Order: sequence, then C-alpha cells, then structure tokens
Amino acid sequence: MYTQLKQRSMAVPPVNVASLKKMKLNGEAIACITAYDASFASTVDHAGADLVLVGDSLGMVIQGHDTTVPVTVDDVIYHTRNVSRGLQRAFLVADMPFMTYSDPNQALENAVRLMQEGGAMMIKLEGGEDQISIVKHLARHDIAVCAHLGLKPQSVHKLGGFRVQGREPKEAQKMIDNAKALQDAGADLVLLECVPNELGNSIKEALEVPVIGIGAGPFVDGQILVLYDILDITQGSTPKFVKNFMIDHNSPINAVKAYVHAVKTGQYPAAEHCFS
Ligand code: KIV
Repeated sequence: MYTQLKQRSMAVPPVNVASLKKMKLNGEAIACITAYDASFASTVDHAGADLVLVGDSLGMVIQGHDTTVPVTVDDVIYHTRNVSRGLQRAFLVADMPFMTYSDPNQALENAVRLMQEGGAMMIKLEGGEDQISIVKHLARHDIAVCAHLGLKPQSVHKLGGFRVQGREPKEAQKMIDNAKALQDAGADLVLLECVPNELGNSIKEALEVPVIGIGAGPFVDGQILVLYDILDITQGSTPKFVKNFMIDHNSPINAVKAYVHAVKTGQYPAAEHCFS
C-alpha cells in the first residue's frame, strides 16, 4: 500500500537507508558517485551505483569555481531535481552548501527545501563537534543525514588548502569521537574524505552506520568519487585517490560500470590511491 508509484514497476527495489545498512552488515561494498544532471544520473544508475550524491563539488566541476564555497541552496536544488529524474534504483543524497546549516533552524529549513524542491532522500553536511546539535535537530524531524568528516572542502580557506586530515594521533582520536557522536545524534551515514587508511578502518569499526570514503582507504564500507574524475573530464592535476576509468573503456557507461565493479570487488582503491 505504501509502495511509491515509481517503484511498483521496478524489477530491482530502490536503495534506501535500511538496505545501505544491510550492505555494511553483509560486507558488501557500497558504490557511490556524484552526478549533476539527468543524463549522467541515468548512466550511473544503469551502471549499478548504489548511491548518487549531488555534491557541492558542482561549484568546481560545473560552475568552474576554485572551491565549493560559492555554491547556493538554489544551485543544489536545481541539480538535485534534474538528477532525481534520471534515477530509478540509486539512493539520492544532496549536499548542504557552505553556511546553509549554521544553526539548527536554518539547517532544517534548507534540508526541507532540498527534499521537497530537489527530491533528495538524504542531506549531507560537513561537520564535527559543532554540528552535533544540528544533526540531532534534523534527525528529530526524521531527515536522513550524512555527516562529512576528514577533509572538509567548505573549510578550505581556514585549513589553508586541500590536505590529508587525521595524521596526528590526537586529531585522529577526535575524529573517531566526533563520528560516534554524530552517529549517536542521528546521522545515518558518515563520509570520510582524505584520511589515512588506518583511521578509515578505525571509524568504520567504531560505527554501526555505513562509512563511505573518498581517499579514506580500502577498509571503509563504500567508496565515492566525483563522476568527472572517473570519466577523466577533469583537466590538470587530480588528487591521489582519483582513478581514471575511461582508460580501457570506450564509453561513459562502461567506465562507470568498471568503477562499480572495482569498488564491489575491492580492486579500487589500490595502494596508490590511499594515504598512510
Ligand atoms: O561535493 C562532493 O562532491 C563531495 C564528494 C567529494 C564526496 O562531497
């Protein structure tokens, strides 16, 4: 009775928070990719991606900015709405842009917009200790949340660049504690960016919710990459964790299928994509 209309004709059930958690429990790697439009969303969905993120990376790869800081809620809504039309099975997550979740009420208002106007099923925010009350507030309103830890690109000007986080034992322990606190506050997923393999492993082991990594090593519950990096569209230097899947593949869908397969079989990330 409560099955969504779109799902009724589907052979494969859509991914949801419960199935992502089940994948963690069963040790099945979760394959995640960013997308920003309906055509690529359909491509990555057909290629078998479990989760699609409309990341604020759109500020860099779509809009041509140097950072994600200029991205607005309206930008993310526009792209999320387009991506949602291309998806059948994959779970849709949208980023909360810079300074759109600086207090619990502002966060709730913007999360509701991303869901109602964009069609997002979960929102992602960059967080630590200071975002615990915000995650709690969103979770209390039954909004699914992904907490982004490690390298937080929205803080690039404060950090002084994009670099590996959590190498110092004290900093690593703080990240583990924050991950647990965010989970306890109601986060359903944790995304870790640019941390050493061992820290990725410790956070994965400490949490019940799935941990998705980007430059967080092979031990986490799933991987995510920016679509344009997978397809070798990004010009200039790319981060160490990036792998160009267009090599050896003759089309975007085959490249994304190769990425999904590499994540599922543990072939990606290899040692050269990881930080120690
Ligand atoms: O904005 C984004 O695309 C992201 C990924 C890099 C994980 O946050």
